[in-house]
Amino acid sequence: MRVAGQEYLTIRLEGTSVFMIDQNLLPFSFSVKECKTWEDTCLSIRNMTVRGAGAIGAAAGFAMAQAFMESEDPGMAIERIKATRPTARDLFFAVEKVFYAGQISVQAAVDEAQKLAAANVAAAKNIGKFGEPLIKEGSRILTHCNAGWLGFVDYGSALAPIYMAHRGGKQLFVYADETRPRSQGARLTAWELSNEDIDHSIVPDNAGAYLMSKGMIDMVIVGADRIAANGDTANKIGTFEKAIVAKQFGIPFFVAAPLSTFDPAAETGEKIEIEERSADEVNYQTGPDSEGRIHTIRVSNPGSAAFNPAFDVTPAEFISGIITEKGIIKPDVQMIASLFR
Ligand code: MRU
Repeated sequence: MRVAGQEYLTIRLEGTSVFMIDQNLLPFSFSVKECKTWEDTCLSIRNMTVRGAGAIGAAAGFAMAQAFMESEDPGMAIERIKATRPTARDLFFAVEKVFYAGQISVQAAVDEAQKLAAANVAAAKNIGKFGEPLIKEGSRILTHCNAGWLGFVDYGSALAPIYMAHRGGKQLFVYADETRPRSQGARLTAWELSNEDIDHSIVPDNAGAYLMSKGMIDMVIVGADRIAANGDTANKIGTFEKAIVAKQFGIPFFVAAPLSTFDPAAETGEKIEIEERSADEVNYQTGPDSEGRIHTIRVSNPGSAAFNPAFDVTPAEFISGIITEKGIIKPDVQMIASLFR
């Protein structure tokens, strides 16, 4: 990823430490956090220092490798890592692979974690390549949450085709949903787009129907946290609403995700566990004052309860296509099964 003209990875394992861009501080300050132990890395997944399905997959693989390097009980460590965040399939995919590699040797676990992180970058690049032709000159694209560089080790999923189209010289415009309550769109997607010099506007989460009804959106591209065997797709809360509205107005709605996000064991979206996060994320917001000092303030009625489901499931019938590293497929059981043959 490009930050002020310099290339970075969202997350990497070097020696026994995991280094990650601190996404809780963006876009107000840029810093790289070092997690010296597997438990530090787990905490960073849970508190969303690192977030986004692809990036937490890499983080979980690295945490498992750290646990082996620290001679921690691997059976206990894998359960603790899996318990950090339940929805993103990539986390389970990576931690299990590293766990099995670690049965051979500690070095095999480290090599596997590094291999998975490299595969994450390669898959995202190919998603960009396959998705780029979908973006026509002058396209106005709506995206939800952040499925860009920061959601992966690099490149991203939903934003990868956009970056490639822009770098290839296509004119385009991105509407970034602010994505309450954690504002990944307003904070992270907007920051990424700024770094790439891509024209964009942040829009309130409830503006989708207005924009689409006024003919202001040509296509929607979102990422995914887990895709069931029939194509039902879990993604950031609010994605389903965008898909319903897109269908109403005949606007193509694409999901972009690598094969590591598919969960063949989940027959339908009903089987996907939806993470529920703290009510504090709804009741409080954090940001800088005019002097740059960060404050957390209450933005809701004191004493009211808040419910905070982090994801929803968009049924396959609302999805025009899934952009993967192997090509674009229709979201149906046979097509999805064929990806794994
Ligand atoms: O809770 P998050 O920020 O980890 O959720 C991430 C998302 O839901 C993204 O929208 C994305 O599509 C999946 S990760 C690239």
